[in-house]
Amino acid sequence: MSEIVVGIIGAGRIGKLHLNNMKHMSNVRIKAVSDVFADQMGDLGVERMTKDYQEIIQDPEIQVIFICSPTDTHTTIIKEAARAGKHIFCEKPISFSDEETLEAYEVVKEAGVKFQIGFNRRFDRNFSKVRSIVEAKQIGDLHVLKITSRDPEPPPLEYVLRSGGLFADMSIHDFDMARFITNSEVIEVFAQGGALVNPKIAEVGDIDTAIIHLKFANGALGVIDNSRQAVYGYDQRLEAFGSEGSANVKNEAASRIEMFAKDGIKEDNPYHFFLERYNDAYIQEVSDFMTAIEQDKEVTCGFVDGIMAQRIAIAAKKSIDTGMPVQVEQLNSLVLE
Ligand SMILES: NC(=O)c1ccc[n+]([C@@H]2O[C@H](COP(=O)([O-])OP(=O)(O)OC[C@H]3O[C@@H](n4cnc5c(N)ncnc54)[C@H](O)[C@@H]3O)[C@@H](O)[C@H]2O)c1
Repeated sequence: MSEIVVGIIGAGRIGKLHLNNMKHMSNVRIKAVSDVFADQMGDLGVERMTKDYQEIIQDPEIQVIFICSPTDTHTTIIKEAARAGKHIFCEKPISFSDEETLEAYEVVKEAGVKFQIGFNRRFDRNFSKVRSIVEAKQIGDLHVLKITSRDPEPPPLEYVLRSGGLFADMSIHDFDMARFITNSEVIEVFAQGGALVNPKIAEVGDIDTAIIHLKFANGALGVIDNSRQAVYGYDQRLEAFGSEGSANVKNEAASRIEMFAKDGIKEDNPYHFFLERYNDAYIQEVSDFMTAIEQDKEVTCGFVDGIMAQRIAIAAKKSIDTGMPVQVEQLNSLVLE
């Protein structure tokens, strides 16, 4: 099997994670990494480091580009990479604007390259099992989906400013999870939120805590609770409740030991954050993408998944701004062709 030659744009938290995971994949050769701070990053153990990502776009040997730079750079790079004939793995969200995302989608469709969006949680063994349980109607008809998704600590304010807000940056994973588990579109959103963790987050126009109600096309209802700060770790739970039962995903921790003592029962806190909690899922999403390229198959989560999660985020923001439930714009068949 020949190697797939990869270039990575953006070597921050998520770029380095993918880089380190791909170093262990025998069918992948990471040829170059680009970051605006490439000269200050030391040796990342790759063939070439560059400050100018155009060197990656223009390298004829590179077949696949990982876009791991901040969200406001994504659509420009997607269009350039697609026009250069590269397959693209892009971190979430695609952008902050539906127009920009649709424009990039057209370019990707036209170029005929593969595109996968970084919704890593779909590749978590427990969440994907719940999807199968729901699909097989093992819990009967799905009535309610409950997602708890809380970070251990808020990101720095500089990150918040460039993040697009809680819904576009963080809840977007939960919006995708909601679509994934139910296999149904979200048609209406009602969101309430506030800056309860850090008032400075309100000063920069964002929130850090939210409750989001969802109505699905198949009639099911959903609720997501988000916080930027759970003091006990990364809280990632889910319950699918239906007419014949419920399927629950609990937190993952370093061990599942319950220790009984005089002063109470103790167990490990949940894993601290996404790097620990989802590393297997990050590896799986990239392996899946490489298989899709090698075998010329459909990717597991593509552009449309990115568009729809982003539309739910846009509707949630509008709901916060208006205090009203908001309909989620659906894709028409012309866009999908
Ligand atoms: N899937 C996930 O679980 C997950 C987790 C974290 C972040 N993300 C997404 O990944 C993206 C990056 O987030 P992050 O947390 O790694 O941010 P980060 O700030 O840690 O890293 C971004 C890196 O991109 C570099 N960069 C900026 N502009 C660049 C350019 N023009 N060319 C090359 N490099 C450039 C920065 O110098 C920085 O090193 C965001 O879109 C974010 O939403 C996804």
